[in-house]
Amino acid sequence: MKVLVIGSGGREHALAWKVAQNALVSEVLVAPGNAGTAREAKVRNVTVGTTDLDALVELVREEDVVLTIVGPEAPLAAGVVDRFKKEGLRCFGPTQKAAQLESSKSFAKAFLTRHNIPTAAWSAFAEPAPAHAYIDANGAPIVIKADGLAAGKGVVVAMTLDVAHRAVDDVFSLAPPDGSVRLVIEEFMAGEEASFICVCDGVTALPFASSQDHKTRDDGDKGPNTGGMGAYSPAPVVDVDVHTKTMERIILPTLRGMAAEGAPFTGFLYAGLMIDAEGNPRVVEFNCRFGDPEAQPVLSRLVSDLVEICERAIDGRLANLELAFDPRPAVGVVMAAGGYPDKYPSGDVITGFDTATALGAKVFHASTALKDGNVITAGGRVLCVVGLGDSVAAAQAVAYAGVSAIHFNKAHWRRDIAYRALNR
Ligand code: AMP
Ligand code: GLY
Repeated sequence: MKVLVIGSGGREHALAWKVAQNALVSEVLVAPGNAGTAREAKVRNVTVGTTDLDALVELVREEDVVLTIVGPEAPLAAGVVDRFKKEGLRCFGPTQKAAQLESSKSFAKAFLTRHNIPTAAWSAFAEPAPAHAYIDANGAPIVIKADGLAAGKGVVVAMTLDVAHRAVDDVFSLAPPDGSVRLVIEEFMAGEEASFICVCDGVTALPFASSQDHKTRDDGDKGPNTGGMGAYSPAPVVDVDVHTKTMERIILPTLRGMAAEGAPFTGFLYAGLMIDAEGNPRVVEFNCRFGDPEAQPVLSRLVSDLVEICERAIDGRLANLELAFDPRPAVGVVMAAGGYPDKYPSGDVITGFDTATALGAKVFHASTALKDGNVITAGGRVLCVVGLGDSVAAAQAVAYAGVSAIHFNKAHWRRDIAYRALNR
């Protein structure tokens, strides 16, 4: 049977690689994919855009694809799952309505409040003046979030009032107020972050192994925010107690709440958590898809069959399934183009893949392309190099051995991925 993965990043390479391990899968199509998926066994790229719903439906019909798995948020927010359902096609992911948990910060915050799910105190604003007044009344640190999908770039954690006021002006300078919600301002939460990702069938949620990503560009969690510079699994901060609290206070009430509101959640539900010193988790944000780069280390540890997981989720049959994971930790280091997340070069030839593989690392591609038989850089986050090992230190050593083997012009990577786990 054929499976389609929609997307072109490191997460989609990991999804396609994992799906290809199912013996019943004859071929995995990736739309549009990257050089990594192009060179993966049993995987083929097709040049169809991620939000071109007509073309995706046509592709699935022409190729007799039996299952489609959606990687990124944009097609979900565009209603790809609703459209496929209407066409009688099987597509794993949340409906457009359910995807609002990610696509609208104000929807997500109002939902959390309605259902008494722990999160930062917040207020939504359609006009600049009341937003400025709210900031003055609450003081700094304070967090400003633009509403709508922003690929992680719409959030300003303002340590001073000045920065907070400027963030509000920035949002409204992009477009004058028209009465619709433009931003959410919320309380600053202290603690340690973790990614808690579940597969859901509307009623049941099965958690994947926990993980943590590194959002800022430079070592020591410094520099500008990015899409993620590396991730590892498990996250030691998510111990049994935090895990139980997260399921009982956050994940299960979210599934019950979405079902009660007529938008049962099927798909990957990603709760970004802030865990305080007492081990109490609160929701920083929801994503309605797998994390990137979390998918690369987490799926590297997944022993269970991903096709069966997605099939059962679509059919509402997750209840009796248990997910199995390799007990070894996994560390994934992102190699980015120098200058990312601002201006960066692309089109540079990448070498060293075979050496990295021989050293035991798995290289997932994010933004790469094939040109004249070479793999070239084609975006900001270029690769994610994953290592597994008997300890976090051993996994880290494998990942960095792989990184050292790979070369491209002005490559940049953090040298401290997984430092929190090592410091514990
Ligand atoms: P988000 O896109 O909502 O995940 O926000 C991006 C990052 O900003 C998060 O991963 C946190 O590091 C930080 N952040 C967001 N909201 C808060 C908050 N209320 N308190 C502290 N940090 C936050
Ligand atoms: N790693 C953060 C995200 O996928 O949104």
